[in-house]
Parts: sequence; structure tokens; C-alpha cells
Amino acid sequence: MISDEIKQQILDATDIVELIGSYFPLKRAGTNFVALCPFHSEKSGSFNVNPARQFFHCFGCKESGDAISFVRKYENLDYAQAVKRLAERAGITVREEVMDAADLARLKLRSQLIEIHREATEWFQHILFRSRTRDAEAAREYLRNRGLSKQNAENWRIGFAPADSSRFEAWAREKKFSGKALEASGLMALKDDNQPSRGLYTRFRDRIMFPIANDYGEVIAFSGRILDPEAKTAKYINSPQTSIFDKGKTFFGLDKSKRSILSEQRVIVFEGQVDLITAFEAGLENIIAPLGTAFTSDHARILKRFTGEAVLCFDSDTAGYKAAERTFAELASHDIVVRAVEMPAGQDPDSLIRAEGIEGFKKRVADAKPFHEFQIDHMSSVLDLSSLRDRVQFANVLATTVARIHDPVYQDGVVHSVSTRLGIAADDFRKRVATIARTIRKGSHRAENSDDATTSEPPLVLANKDVAMLCKLALTHAETREWLTREKSLMAILQSVPDSKLLSTVWGADFPPPHRVP
Ligand code: CTP
Ligand code: MN
Repeated sequence: MISDEIKQQILDATDIVELIGSYFPLKRAGTNFVALCPFHSEKSGSFNVNPARQFFHCFGCKESGDAISFVRKYENLDYAQAVKRLAERAGITVREEVMDAADLARLKLRSQLIEIHREATEWFQHILFRSRTRDAEAAREYLRNRGLSKQNAENWRIGFAPADSSRFEAWAREKKFSGKALEASGLMALKDDNQPSRGLYTRFRDRIMFPIANDYGEVIAFSGRILDPEAKTAKYINSPQTSIFDKGKTFFGLDKSKRSILSEQRVIVFEGQVDLITAFEAGLENIIAPLGTAFTSDHARILKRFTGEAVLCFDSDTAGYKAAERTFAELASHDIVVRAVEMPAGQDPDSLIRAEGIEGFKKRVADAKPFHEFQIDHMSSVLDLSSLRDRVQFANVLATTVARIHDPVYQDGVVHSVSTRLGIAADDFRKRVATIARTIRKGSHRAENSDDATTSEPPLVLANKDVAMLCKLALTHAETREWLTREKSLMAILQSVPDSKLLSTVWGADFPPPHRVP
């Protein structure tokens, strides 16, 4: 049991405004603070925080309570766990009888992992700026060549992991971090999972280190970039999933950009972290980037707390377009209005900002088109929009986009605009959208019940023999894959054939797109 005395001590040491503000930004409204309610979906901020009473209350869903109830509800913890979380935050040692052994171990591990990341960040920075070895010189030169100043690097706590891993190991020994903690942090990993006795190796070697922070700026992971453009290993390596790092719930840059996202009432989504750093340092701050390409439903839910509008800036290649479509699907189903910037071929925000300046880039963002317009423009390069057949085919592709939109008013607006632009009957198009929307809902219903052993997936039926044949060929013949990639008009048609999703999945998952020259 937790005594009332400890509970009071923890509440006294916690400012509810500061606490909630560390999860998402609060806007001052008179003597109170308001935000979009994190506990129900809404468009206007009904969520109030009262600093005088140290209390929160949502006028929409009626959720209310003190700091402990907030953490309980928000982090999905039980009462004792929430108290412990706040105690840890306030630096209060809760007497041992409050915690069971497992809780203690968990808390201890968390603070160890945060400490390892904090210390490692400093050490990587030290290596980047002070080390006289050849690899560190090369790292400094690399940053210079990319136009990142020492000040830029300091702002983002950029560092360097030396090529010689014995230096990291010596540092870790000197700091007396245990092997267990180092392994749990992801900075080191078992050489052989089946034989732990063979010891650990250092994950990041000869890489520029970009720290990844949580919402309130604590470093919880790293992304390491290789220097050599010719290198055969992955360009970026990220920390693995750990007890403090969930890639599907973390954005690069959010700790710095959240204020600006809130004040601009818009978020710009980039693919790459260097893009984000370049833009942010040039004064465009309302940006985030997921880590790698996967944009999850959790990502969308997090953004929805800050804003109802997103602008996507993805590379103009096929991979970038596909990523934009997936990102759109998640955002639209969370009622976020999505626009997209048409990027010039071969450019990313980093190169574009360096080429045309931040003002030019801001103009592109301001001119970004609604997502369906962006799709129409994209497709008109491969489809003949003067042919009715192509237009109908394309309408089927777009219906999938429109079906993702959750808000009926927003959806109807898009139905009108698409049917006008394509010169097709709005009612026909609306019917098509409704059919697809039902399929999507069924699909997500199945996904939710997927642990129920009685609901098994229906067998895959290929409605179209040609797609089946292409799948088979694409799987077995590199030439078929290359040929398909070249045949843009075929690709466009395929997108509207039932079951071609399977083909693109097989393709996307197993055959990475051709490597872009950085
Ligand atoms: N990424 C990754 N793992 C890879 C490649 C990419 O996690 N093997 C992530 C990185 O976060 C990267 C983003 O995907 O920033 C976009 O990748 P890409 O467009 O290939 O690189 P750039 O961001 O342009 O990287 P750079 O400018 O450093 O070349
Ligand atoms: Mn780039």
C-alpha cells in the first residue's frame, strides 16, 4: 500500500501543468491551460488543466482528476505504478515496501538506460569534436560537406561512433555499465544469441550518430549514418526496439518541434532526419520524421493531439510515393487533413532547401495540394486522362484514397472534387467509395480480433489470372521485376486490378527499390 503521506508528497512535488505539458503542448487560456483531449477524439480543445487546483477536466468526455489519475489513464498504468512513475520523475524515493521486486527492477533498468544514452550521447559528441583519429576527421569533414555547422551539430547533439569498437568498449568499462544494461540499451548486442557466453559486440561503428529523443528531450535511441557513400552496409542503422524505445511511437524531432506544430496548426512530415535538421536550422520548425518509412496508426494518433493538418514532403521516387500513400491512409483515418508537396525528381527537402533557400521551400509547402489532387497529378504522367477508360480505372484507385477519410464532410468534399476533375458521375464514385470503405472496416475488424483462434483469415483468392502469373514471375525472375518497374502504364493499370495489392506487397517487401545515389 502507498501511504497518503507519500501520495501527498508526490503530488506536492509535481506541477500538473508541467507534467501534462511534457506529454503534449498546452495552450494558455486565461488562468487555465487547454489542449485537444488525449482521451477522446475531438476537433476543439475541451481538455482543461487548472494549475490552481492541480486538476484536469475534459468538458467533452468528462474525464478528470489529479496528476496521478492523469498518468494512470494516459500511460495505462494502475494506481501504484502511476505513483511510482511520478515519484521517479520528482526524484522522490518511495519507500521500498511500496514496490515489489519486479517494479523496482523495471524502474532501475529505465533509469540505467536513460543514463547510458545520456552518457553515450556526450561521449559520441566528444569523439566527433575532439578525437584526432582519421575516422573522426572524416566525420567532421562529412558534416561540413553536408553544410552542417558545429553549432547545428551541437543543437542536435550529433556525435560520432568511432570505427575502432574497442574505444566504445573501453569507455563502457570505465563508466562501469553492466553488460546486461548495455545489451538492453541496444548499443551492444550478443555476438551469438544462442551462446551468450561469447559476449557482446558494439552496434554502431564508424557512423555519424543522431540521438533520438522522447517527447521531453531524453535520448532514448540512436540513428547512425555511414559516411562512405560506396559502403555496402545499410546507410542508416537505428537502435533496436528496447524497453524505452518504440520505433512505431516515436518521431525524430518532436521534442523540438511540438511548440511550433501547435502554433502553426500544421505539421510537415519528412522522410529523413537530415532533411528535418536542415529545415529546422533554417527556421522551419513544425516538422517531424518517422524513423525509417513505417508510419503507424500510433504515429497518427500522437500527431492528432497537436494538429488536424499534415503536409507530406516525400521523395518523388516510387518508394516515396508509396510511403506517402501509406502515411495518408493512417492520417486520414485519424481525421487529419492531408496535403502533399510535389517534390522535383531527385531532390529531397535537404537538397531543395540548400538549392532554393528556405523561403522557396516554404512556398512549396504553402502551395501543397490536397492529397487526392497530388495523386491525380502523379497518375496523369502515366495515365491518359483524356480517355474515359483510363479515367474510370483511375477513379477506382482514388476511391481507395477517399474511402480512408474518416470524416464524412471532408470525404464528401473530396468525392465532389475528384468526380469533377475526372469528369465522372459523383454518385457512381460515391458508391464505389462506400463499397471499399466497408471492405476496409471489415479488414480492420478482423485485425482487431486476430488473436481469436476461431477467426482465421479467408484463403487468398486471385480474381485475376494475369496478376497471379505476374506475381509468380516477379517472385522468380529479376528480369520480370525490372520490366514491370519500367512499364509505368502497366503499373498504373495494375493498381486498379483486384488483388494486385498482393503483387505490390510481394514486391515492396522483398525487393527493395533501386538504391538512390545520395
Ligand atoms: N532510413 C533507415 N534505414 C535505412 C535507410 C533509411 O532508417 N537503411 C531512414 C532514415 O531515418 C532516413 C530516412 O529513412 O533519414 C530516409 O531515407 P533516405 O531517403 O534513403 O535518406 P536521406 O534521408 O536522404 O538520408 P541522407 O540525406 O543522409 O542521405
Ligand atoms: Mn537526403
